[in-house]
Amino acid sequence: MLTEVTATRYVTPLREGGSLPGIVEADDLGTYVMKFTGAGQGRKTLVAEVVCGRLGRRLGLRVPELVAIQLDPVIGLSEPDQEVQELLKASGGLNLGMDYLPGSLGFDPLAFEVSPEEAGRVVWFDALVNNVDRSWRNPNLLVWHGDLWLIDHGATMIWHHNWPGAAASAARPYDASDHALARYAPDVASAAAELAPRITEELLDEVTAEVPDAWLLGEPGFEDPDAVRRAYARALLDRAATIHERITLGAPSGPRVPQPPGWLTDHLGPWPHTAGESAGTDSGAAGRTAEGSTR
Ligand SMILES: Nc1ncnc2c1ncn2[C@@H]1O[C@H](COP(=O)(O)OP(=O)(O)OP(=O)(O)O)[C@@H](O)[C@H]1O
Ligand SMILES: [Mg+2]
Repeated sequence: MLTEVTATRYVTPLREGGSLPGIVEADDLGTYVMKFTGAGQGRKTLVAEVVCGRLGRRLGLRVPELVAIQLDPVIGLSEPDQEVQELLKASGGLNLGMDYLPGSLGFDPLAFEVSPEEAGRVVWFDALVNNVDRSWRNPNLLVWHGDLWLIDHGATMIWHHNWPGAAASAARPYDASDHALARYAPDVASAAAELAPRITEELLDEVTAEVPDAWLLGEPGFEDPDAVRRAYARALLDRAATIHERITLGAPSGPRVPQPPGWLTDHLGPWPHTAGESAGTDSGAAGRTAEGSTR
């Protein structure tokens, strides 16, 4: 199980987050971004955070450390915001904490270079867990001490919302056209060659064992939390070997893919610098598969 700590102080809400995560201090003197069991998104969001966050770390990706946080709602008594009060009241017991990265910045594609190797690893990982929440509109990436960090894995593994159809759902392709790192010529084939063999039953057993029982209990169709853990592991194991063949890196959708201002491209040359293509990312890339793009 995740290391367990106890919240000692509710500091402030993080209003950028749809689920209204909050910054809390805990009895281990740590500061955490806390995601609440009582949030409208439900406890499966927290399960997804644990499975993906721990798996990502085991694969060498940068994901802030996760803990389970015991919350006594009384610590929020002086919080003036009614919405926060309600959330705390509905979240007594175990919640999720992610190590707070002080001074981190939201990822800005105009200001940060990503190598094709790193972009490939992130896109492959997101394809594995079917992350639909790392688009250029909402990257859920932070830059901290010059490195890229992955956060917010709540909207992954869509199959856990319908277990009877999980095998079919996990066999589906992954469209990475709108992925925040699609423009950095992600080397998905190399990432798959490096990472897919590391997705073993043993690793997945260890990762799913980190999820607190309380978030798995009572799942319809399963006799106990371990049976649910095995279902998470099965879906990821099935997907790992071949998902790279089913990743699409096409033209991004929508008219407002951010572009650098003219004075910057005049100064730096064509952008993005690593993709080997012109700044008009919607030409030439359409229909490219990850496999094809790396040959
Ligand atoms: N570990 C962290 N360190 C510093 N800041 C963080 C951390 N985790 C999250 N944040 C900040 O809080 C914001 C909201 O976090 P997150 O995206 O995880 O919440 P969410 O409610 O799931 O959001 P969304 O609206 O994307 O569903 C992030 O955009 C980021 O600015
Ligand atoms: Mg987010």
